[in-house]
Amino acid sequence: SRSIRLAVIPGDGIGPEVVAEGLKVLGAVAPSSGLAFEQTSYDLGAARWHRTGETLPDTVLDELRGQDVILLGAVGDPSVPSGTLERGLLLRARFELDHYVNLRPVKLFPGVATPLAGVTPDDIDMIVVREGTEGPYTGVGGVLRRDSPNEVATQESVNTAYGVERVIRYAFEVAASRPRRKLTLVHKDNVLTFAGDLYQRTLKRVGAGYPQVAVDYLHVDAATMFFVSRPQRFDVIVTDNLFGDIITDLGAAIVGGIGLAASGNVNPDRAAPSMFEPVHGSAPDIAGQGKADPTATILSVAMLLDHVGAADAARRVERAVSDDLAERAGFGDRSTTQIGDAIAKRVSG
Ligand code: NAD
Ligand code: IPM
Ligand code: MN
Repeated sequence: SRSIRLAVIPGDGIGPEVVAEGLKVLGAVAPSSGLAFEQTSYDLGAARWHRTGETLPDTVLDELRGQDVILLGAVGDPSVPSGTLERGLLLRARFELDHYVNLRPVKLFPGVATPLAGVTPDDIDMIVVREGTEGPYTGVGGVLRRDSPNEVATQESVNTAYGVERVIRYAFEVAASRPRRKLTLVHKDNVLTFAGDLYQRTLKRVGAGYPQVAVDYLHVDAATMFFVSRPQRFDVIVTDNLFGDIITDLGAAIVGGIGLAASGNVNPDRAAPSMFEPVHGSAPDIAGQGKADPTATILSVAMLLDHVGAADAARRVERAVSDDLAERAGFGDRSTTQIGDAIAKRVSG
């Protein structure tokens, strides 16, 4: 069987709890996938920062570059200043490994309770292609006269023709491969005129090569409204890094909650390993209690399997999750481990 080098970054809070279940399911499906996963676990996150002051050292980054794919739990902890691990570890990995596509499916599985009235699984099946390396996330900006009454904080949005084009092109490819062939640009070009205009012109130019894809545009504020009032209108969405962050938490909420939302930080050119992770964070409020839902991580494992070319195994994991979700109402409260066990059992059985 083909060998895949898998880097595992459990991280903080519920990260290690949900990653353990993701690996359990991977272990259950791997034997029939034709792949052998060689795992290396990386001790990164709050504990390491407290011990050494390191977030993502160059040496570890270099090791990660030599891996085929990465599974990450979550990072961030109340004992660490906000942004230290988020920027120094998670965003550093996304930027250095050039994860310019942040893929976030928003799909309602049968039997899952949505807060939207009268909505069925046919009504919500979209995928958000979130730009992953630019926008307001670059860290460009600064602060003047900190802690004075005249303090000024700037945080710029950086958008390059190169970066916008490649993510829009990827989104067109995804849209062209889906039955509905619809792509919606979500931005705020009525206010963010420079960046919005670059996205709009690029959409038009790249779209000329995809006449089969229907294109439309929504301001992000209106898009949030339609997520709730008319989710059927969405198929593929392409959007800026920050807008994509915000709308995918909303997307998670309308399809059963953040515990179900999977994602992939993808380097489509395969110039560096891609990194799969649940959309949620380290959830300090429930960490260590066995309450976290590992389903988002397990679905991220399915995306990982697709990425490494194990489509059959990916479908098996998705089907196991879907079957488990369909019966959840009858299960009552289950722990993180119980959910992982149940899905792993379906995958192997
Ligand atoms: P969060 O996603 O950690 O938690 C938001 C709410 O959702 C909490 O009530 C939490 O208990 C719940 N929740 C999250 N995941 C769940 C799961 N699997 N099952 C059940 N409930 C779940 O977001 P937050 O509270 O805004 O952030 C907490 C920390 O995580 C912060 O340090 C933040 O920076 C970090 N964070 C990291 C990532 C990441 O690593 N990708 C993503 C988001 C936030
Ligand atoms: C996410 C998170 C991250 C983001 C943070 C923790 C940097 O919210 O993965 O959605 O904003 O991308
Ligand atoms: Mn987020």
